[in-house]
Amino acid sequence: MSPELLQIGALTKRFGGVVAVNAVDLSVGEGQVFGLIGPNGAGKTTLINLISGHFRADGGTIRFGGTDVTRLRPHELAKRGIARTFQSIRLFKGLTVLENVLLGRYVRSRSDVLASLVPFRAVGSIERDASRAILDRFGLGARADALAAELSYGDQRRLEIARALASEPRLLILDEPAAGMNATESVALSGMLRELAVGGLTIILIEHDVRLVMGACERVAVLNFGRKIAEGGPAEIQADPVVREAYLGSGDDA
Ligand SMILES: Nc1ncnc2c1ncn2[C@@H]1O[C@H](COP(=O)(O)OP(=O)(O)OP(=O)(O)O)[C@@H](O)[C@H]1O
Ligand SMILES: [Mg+2]
Repeated sequence: MSPELLQIGALTKRFGGVVAVNAVDLSVGEGQVFGLIGPNGAGKTTLINLISGHFRADGGTIRFGGTDVTRLRPHELAKRGIARTFQSIRLFKGLTVLENVLLGRYVRSRSDVLASLVPFRAVGSIERDASRAILDRFGLGARADALAAELSYGDQRRLEIARALASEPRLLILDEPAAGMNATESVALSGMLRELAVGGLTIILIEHDVRLVMGACERVAVLNFGRKIAEGGPAEIQADPVVREAYLGSGDDA
C-alpha cells in the first residue's frame, strides 16, 4: 500500500445547528486519485475547505506528510504543497491565460492586489517555459495570450487546474472540475488526472459526474449529512445499497 500523504481524524465543522462535517476519518495515499462524492449539501466542499485551511475545524485533526497541519492557514498549506480549485471558477479574467498560470507559481492565494503587483515583464524565461509546458499539457498552449475571460467554460475549468498545478503541489484538490464540461472534455480530464497521479501527484476529486469519478478514482468516499457513509473501490461504491439510498433519498440522480 502507498504511504499515507493525508490523514484526517474525527474532523468536524459546525455552522450554527448544522454539522456540515461530522467526525470524518479519511486517509489518502501518495499518488492516489481519491474521489469524494455525496448528495448536494453533504459536506464535500466544507471538508476540502478544512483541508486547504479556508475553514477552521471545530474538532479533529489533519495530518499532511506526517505533520499536524490542523491549524495552518491557506497560504501556509499552499507552501507545504496543497493546491486546490474552487467550485465556482476563480480566475483573473482580465489577465491572459499565461499570466494566470504564472500567478499560480508566485501567488498561492487569491488576491487582486497581489496580482497587480506581479511584474509579468520581469518574469524569467524558465518560469515562462514551465508555465507554457503546463498549458500545453492541458491543451491550452495556443490560447496562452488570450484573456482568461475569452475562454470557453470548459477551458476556464482546465485553466484553473493548470494554475493550481503551477505551484507544483503534492496534493491537488479539485471541487467539481468537470462542471460545465461536455462528455468528451470530461473523459479527457479523467485521463489527465490519472496521468498526473502516475507522475506521483495525489488528487482529491469532488465530482457529481459518476463516470469521471469511477474512471479516474482508485478509491471513493461517500459523504451524506456530514458523515462518511461508505468508502471503497469505485465498483464497490456503485453497488453499495447505503450509497444508493443516500442518493435516492435526496432526489439526486448522480
Ligand atoms: N459558509 C457557510 N456558512 C453556513 N453554512 C454553510 C457554509 N458552507 C456550507 N454550509 C452548510 O454546510 C452544509 C454542507 O455544505 P457543502 O457546501 O459542504 O456541501 P457540498 O457537499 O459541497 O454540496 P454541493 O454538492 O451542493 O456542492 C450545507 O448544509 C451548507 O448549507
Ligand atoms: Mg460543494
